[in-house]
Amino acid sequence: MIDTTPYSKIRITLKYLRYYLSSKGKHGVHSPLVYQFITQVLNSNEGSKYPLAEYERKRLQSDTTLIDFVDFGKSGKTYEKKINTIAKSSLKSKKYAQLLRRIAQHFQLNKILELGTSLGITTAYLAYDQSVNITTLEGSERVAQEAEKVWKNLRLSQIQCIKGGFEKTLSHVSQQSFDLIYLDGNHRYEPTLAYFDVLKKNSHKKTVFIFDDIHYSESMEEAWRQIKQQADVTITIDLFFIGIVWIDNSLSKEDFVLRY
Ligand SMILES: C[S@@+](CC[C@H](N)C(=O)[O-])C[C@H]1O[C@@H](n2cnc3c(N)ncnc32)[C@H](O)[C@@H]1O
Repeated sequence: MIDTTPYSKIRITLKYLRYYLSSKGKHGVHSPLVYQFITQVLNSNEGSKYPLAEYERKRLQSDTTLIDFVDFGKSGKTYEKKINTIAKSSLKSKKYAQLLRRIAQHFQLNKILELGTSLGITTAYLAYDQSVNITTLEGSERVAQEAEKVWKNLRLSQIQCIKGGFEKTLSHVSQQSFDLIYLDGNHRYEPTLAYFDVLKKNSHKKTVFIFDDIHYSESMEEAWRQIKQQADVTITIDLFFIGIVWIDNSLSKEDFVLRY
């Protein structure tokens, strides 16, 4: 059994330093897709700012209301948690939310699936356009209700949240084909690989998979190692806090560690 305990702060910092020193920029990158990704997505700011979503993030960060929260990662029990605690600890930062928006926008990824909605801020960032259709899965019912308030405030009607544990809700979406799949919940080896297996079946050549927190624990690092080794996985990009995967068989197999 691989250890699922999150690495200590000091271990993460050391790992981040190692990543930072080994990560590359655009020089020496021969893959046209990755070169384009670096110059037009990673190193660009265009079109990804979303001040209203940041206003919603701030509102949640100061909301001390207690809501029911299901601890999926550990005990599976329900307990009460303040909205501001969730908003400060569970959401992707502005920098990464903006990057996800740029990825979706640049590659014109219109049909999006997110595993792990939380308060819906990153989901909102992914809804870069009216034509985008997003399905997002969340196990904590009350948390999902707060996310729905966020989208209502932002007048985003193209997001559908399916509530319940992934083990049940995944079957509602596994027959569909998505352009972007963002896996940001249940950060453990077996479930991560199982979700990838199921979701790959109906994906297409241009589907982009994004895995969150690939260096969060031994378990997630092992999952990331396994993903990179799979025969149908071609290009992977390690940005430390997220890992990006293409399964397009017209691309040559190569792993990149890029600075962001
Ligand atoms: C890190 S948060 C998601 C953050 C969000 N994507 C963002 O960046 O704004 C992970 C979420 O996944 C949910 N989750 C984790 N394991 C789950 C499971 N097995 N079934 C359903 N939801 C789960 C948690 O309740 C939590 O809200």
